[in-house]
Order: sequence, then structure tokens, then C-alpha cells
Amino acid sequence: MLDALNDLQIAHSEQLRGEICKLIESKNGWIGFDQFMDMALYAPGLGYYSGGARKFGEQGDFITAPMMGSLFGRCLANQCAEVLTRCDQSRCRSVVEFGAGTGELMLEILRHLELQKLLPDEYVVLETSADLQERQRQLIATSKPEYLEIIRWSNRLDEKINGIIIANELLDAIPVKRFEIDENFMARELGVTLNDDCSETDTSPFQWKSANQPFELSVQDRLKPFQLDVGYQSEIGLQAEAWVRSIGDNLENGAMVLIDYGFPASEYYHYDRRGGTLMCHFQHTAHDDPFRHPGLQDITAHVDFSAVFEAARQANLDLAGYCNQASFLMSLGILDEYHKVLVGDSKGQDQTSRKSLEVAQQIKKLTLPHEMGELFKVIAFSRNFDYPLQGFDMQNRAGWL
Ligand SMILES: C[S@@+](CC[C@H](N)C(=O)[O-])C[C@H]1O[C@@H](n2cnc3c(N)ncnc32)[C@H](O)[C@@H]1O
Repeated sequence: MLDALNDLQIAHSEQLRGEICKLIESKNGWIGFDQFMDMALYAPGLGYYSGGARKFGEQGDFITAPMMGSLFGRCLANQCAEVLTRCDQSRCRSVVEFGAGTGELMLEILRHLELQKLLPDEYVVLETSADLQERQRQLIATSKPEYLEIIRWSNRLDEKINGIIIANELLDAIPVKRFEIDENFMARELGVTLNDDCSETDTSPFQWKSANQPFELSVQDRLKPFQLDVGYQSEIGLQAEAWVRSIGDNLENGAMVLIDYGFPASEYYHYDRRGGTLMCHFQHTAHDDPFRHPGLQDITAHVDFSAVFEAARQANLDLAGYCNQASFLMSLGILDEYHKVLVGDSKGQDQTSRKSLEVAQQIKKLTLPHEMGELFKVIAFSRNFDYPLQGFDMQNRAGWL
């Protein structure tokens, strides 16, 4: 059962709704869905991520892998440790995390690297949301204030990266374009227009409307192999691809590990997925209406990993591996970490079966195929790094891209 919205939430959402209405009016009554999604998630002070919505955790709208406990972070720390030690140490001394959410992943990675005496010179956090940057800072200040000396928050990346870049559930939060196949089998952009009266508050003022012209040829060409039917709707992550190209360009030595839910293009544009992959999260309920409660709900789209691969190739990165989350975490020793958590916690006290069950629950959620194990994938790239990454020891489905 969903909690009713309070007055503050209603006022917040209505203010953002008004801003989006103004933008649409200023653009002759139509904007691309990517512009709508950008406003809904990132409009300064009002968007879902940039405003004060609770977002993560039991009291929020959804939880992510780092919030389930320490195992995910410990495994990623093992991957960071491998890159930091194998890459020429005088050059590779940074961990760079994009979209750090609550900051729990950063805290766990740093704790685990410290145990291995491998703290990086610098942990750089690239986070667009000022609200989340503050939450991350608070978490570190209350849990491990000494880490503040090596953590640096930044809004944009200007420098070359030497070390490892990580991003968990970042790509799915980058605005996408949406399209529909028209009667001439051409992909036509689906955008957002307004009902007659934008001031009417009981109903959503937003409606889907397709563009007057089909998409440019490059988009038609890449969709052609999938022989999509008239009426087929889906997304295309042009901004996420541009992000991969630009961050990839900045990677000088080391690796980049991206974790998200999605598929290779042949599965992404499968007949069964003819409504697309847009998904919204509100109070732990998933639905597909992005126009509901602007600013109060998360909006995401699955990731086309073939397109991510192609973007990285254009940045001249080497593909280091592609696999599902379950095998990535298994390869990075999630079962050993499970034992370490239990043994570590039981020092000098009786190990409770409750704790053991809790940690086992984490493993199930992170690795079982019907939980996050199969839908979530990991793709990694490298530059000037000639070693295989441990995360792909058990499985590498690079050929599926
Ligand atoms: C779905 S949350 C994932 C948070 C966290 N990585 C986790 O796994 O819990 C997406 C995060 O990416 C941030 N974000 C979105 N676009 C970004 C960008 N271009 N650069 C940096 N951070 C971004 C959001 O503010 C948010 O913190």
C-alpha cells in the first residue's frame, strides 16, 4: 500500500511540473523524452536526484546492491585492489566513482582496501546531485572521518584518470531518447507535449507525441538489423554512449567497470520487449508511467550493452570482459567474503544464526538469477593494462555483445 503524498511533496512536484510545462511551451509545445527525463531527475533543487527526495533505502523508493550489506563493496574492492597493484603503481593510484548514491559503496571499498594496505592516493567522487554529495560526506564524516583526507568530490571530470573507474547503476539513470516504429518502418522520436490546460492539477498535463520527422539515418541504420514491427516502442541511450566515450577518453592507464541492468542489443530490441524498458520506482513499487509525480519518483531505462561496447571502442578502449553480476561477484570471491564477514563478526562472541542468515540473504539477492544475478551485467574496459580482470575469471560473454 502506497503512503499518501504529504503537502510538501505535492508542492514540490507541482513546482517541477510547472517548470517542465514552461520548458515545453518555450519549445513550441514539444520536447524529446530525454529532456523530460533530465528535468524530472536533475532539474536544480527540484529533480528526483537533485532535490531532497529520500530516494534510497527502506524509507525511500528502491535499494541498490551496495545498500544490502558489505559483500558487494568487498568484491568491488577486490577488483580495485587488483587494478591498483597490477597497474604500474607510480601511475595508477586513484579510484574514481561516478554516481555514488548514499556513499555506502565508497565506504566499503575504502575499508576493504585499507585492510589490504592498498588505500588509493585519491578517491574521486563524480556526483551530479548536491543533495547526494552532502549525504555521502555525512556518511564518511560519521563513519570514517579520516577518509575525508583522500576523498575529493567533483562535479565534472577535467583530468586524466590513472587507476580504476567504477559506476554502479549510473547508466540506467542517464536520460534516454524514446522512439516508435511508424507505418513506414522508420523509427520516429517520441517526445512529450501538453494537454490543453497545464494548470489543471488533478490529471497529468503530459502526453506522448511523436516527432514530425523520422530519426536521423544513423539511428535508423543501427535499428534496422532488429526488423522492428510497426508500433514497436523502445529507448536509445545516446547520452549514456556519449558519457562512455568522454570518460573513456579520460582513462589514461587502468580500467573502467560499469554495472547495471540490461542486455546486448539483440535482447534489448527483442520482439517481447516491444513496449521498451522504461521503469519508474516509487515507494518500492515499479511501474512504467514516467509522467506520474515528477520529481518524486525515479525513472530509469535498461542499458544496451552492445551500444556501450561500441562507444568504448570509439574511445579506443580495450574490452576487458562482459558477464552477469552473479559470476562477476563469484569470481571476486563473494563466498570467501561471506566467511570473512562471519568469522570477523564472531571474534570474541558467539556467532548468531541471525547474522549468518542475513549475510546469506545478501548473497541470494546479489547472485540468484531471478534476483539481481542475471539481469544485472558487468562490462569492463581497460587502457594500457595488459592483465585479465579477476571479475571475469568464471565467465566472459564478450562474444554476446
Ligand atoms: C541509481 S543511483 C545509483 C547510486 C549508487 N551508485 C548505488 O549503486 O547505490 C544513480 C546515481 O548517479 C548519479 N548521477 C546521474 N548522472 C550522473 C552523472 N552524469 N555523473 C555523475 N553522477 C550521476 C545520481 O545523482 C545518483 O547518485
